[in-house]
Amino acid sequence: MDIAVIGTGHVGLVTGACFADLGNKVICVDKNEETINNLNKGIVPFYEPGLKEIITKNTKNNRLAFTTDIKEAVLNSLIIFITVGTPTKYNGESNLVYVEKVTAQIAEIINSYRLIVEKSTVPVETGIWVKHTIKLKASKNVVFDVASNPEFLSEGNAINDFMKPDRIVIGVENEKSEKLLKELYTPLNAPIIVTDTNSAELIKHASNSFLATKISFINSVAEICEKTNADIEKVSKGMGLDSRIGKKFLKAGIGYGGSCFPKDVKAFIHIAKKKGFNFDILEAVSEVNKKCQENFLKKIKDNLWIIEDKNIAVWGLSFKPGTDDIREAPSISIIKKLLDEKAHIKAYDPQVSEKQFKNSIDGKIEFFDNIYDTINNSDCLLILTEWNDFKEVDLKKVKSLLNQPLIIDGRNIYDIEKMQNLGFTYISVGRPTVNKKVDYNNNQIFSTNNKENI
Ligand code: UGA
Repeated sequence: MDIAVIGTGHVGLVTGACFADLGNKVICVDKNEETINNLNKGIVPFYEPGLKEIITKNTKNNRLAFTTDIKEAVLNSLIIFITVGTPTKYNGESNLVYVEKVTAQIAEIINSYRLIVEKSTVPVETGIWVKHTIKLKASKNVVFDVASNPEFLSEGNAINDFMKPDRIVIGVENEKSEKLLKELYTPLNAPIIVTDTNSAELIKHASNSFLATKISFINSVAEICEKTNADIEKVSKGMGLDSRIGKKFLKAGIGYGGSCFPKDVKAFIHIAKKKGFNFDILEAVSEVNKKCQENFLKKIKDNLWIIEDKNIAVWGLSFKPGTDDIREAPSISIIKKLLDEKAHIKAYDPQVSEKQFKNSIDGKIEFFDNIYDTINNSDCLLILTEWNDFKEVDLKKVKSLLNQPLIIDGRNIYDIEKMQNLGFTYISVGRPTVNKKVDYNNNQIFSTNNKENI
C-alpha cells in the first residue's frame, strides 16, 4: 500500500520504517529540513535499537523515502498517518496545534479518496475535530475517512512492539476504513480490536495512565516497605505472580519519566475535567510520581549531610535504559536540585551525550565516557537509570575509587546482601539500607560494621 507518515519523531519514524519493512511504499514527511537531510543521509535523529538498520535497508530498496514536501507525500498515498507531536500546555492540556495544522494542509491537498489516521496520542474526540477540519478546508466533493490507530511503542523496544504487538486498535467510522487498516496490518498476524474513534483514543490514554498508576502504586508500597524494613522486590514478586495483577510495571524506582506517561496522565486528567469528571486517582498518580524524586533527594541529604561542594557521581541520565531520551527524566529534576545546592555533578550515561543533556540543564556538570572515571574522588554514587553496564561493574573497584563506599540506587540494581558483604552503605528503594552510617530519623550514628551503635 502507499502510505504517508507526517512527522518523523520517534513514533513516526518507527511506524514508517516498519510499514516499509512489511512491503509497503512509505513516504515520511517532516517540515524540519535538517532532519530530512540527515535521514536521507542515513542519520537517525535519536537512538532506537534496530531502527537505523531497517531505515537503511528500506531506503536502499526504494520502499522508504523522506521529504519536506507534504504535497508530494499526500498525493502519492492512500493512507495518511498523522504522527506529529502533541506537547503539554501549562495546564496539562494536550497542545493539538500541530495536529490541526497538518490536518488543514492535508485537506487542502487531497483531490480523491484518502484515509487519514491519527496515530499521535490525542485526547478523546480529536478525531471528530480532524474530520470537521478536513470538511471545512477540503474541496466539496472529496471523499475521505478519519480513523484512530493509537501506537503502543515503548522506546528501546519499539521495533519489536511494532512487529509483535499484543493488540492493534483501530477506531473507524465505516467498513471501508476498517478493511483498509485490517489489510495493512494483516502481515503482523496480531489481534485487532475494532472500535469507534472515541473509544480508540480513550484506549490509548487509559492504557498509559493505567501503567503509570501501577508504577505510582508500587512506589507507594515501596515507601511503606522502607518504614517497615520489608523488601519491595519480594512484595512485587508476590503480587505479580497473581495473573490478575501481572508482573510488569511493578518495578519500584524514582518515578516514571519520558515523553509519554507524564504528559498523557496530565492530558487525561485535563480532558476528563473538561467533560465534567474529576479523575482523582490520576491526580494522585502524578503527585506520587513527583514525591518519588523528593524522597530520593532526601536519601542523598540524609547520607551526605551537606551537599555544597560535594562531588556526586551519577550513573544514568536517560529516562529508562535502551534510549538516549531525557525528556521528563528523573535525572533532570534530581540533578537540578543538587546543582541548586552547589554540588559538583560527575555524570555518565552510555547513550546520552553531554551536549544533549546540557541543552536541558544549566550548571556545573562534568561528563565522562568511562564508568570508573566518573566515580573517582566522588563522595557518593547515584544510580538513576538501570543500564545493564552498571549491573556488571567491578564493585570492589567502585569501592576503592569512591571517597566513601556510599551508593544511593534509584533503580534497585544490586543485591543487598552482596552490597552488605562488600561493605557499601547501600541505599535503594523500598529495601532495607545496609551498613547505615547515620540515621537522622532516629537520631543515631552507627559504627562502620552496622552492628553496635556509638
Ligand atoms: C510508554 C508505553 O509503555 C508504550 O506502550 C506507549 O506506546 C508509549 O509510552 C507512548 O505512549 O508512546 P515509554 O514511555 O517508551 O512507553 O516507556 P515505558 O517503558 O513505558 O516506561 C515509562 C517510565 O516508567 C520509565 O521512566 C520507566 O523507568 C518507568 N517504569 C516502568 C517504572 O518506574 N517501573 C516499571 O515497572 C516500569
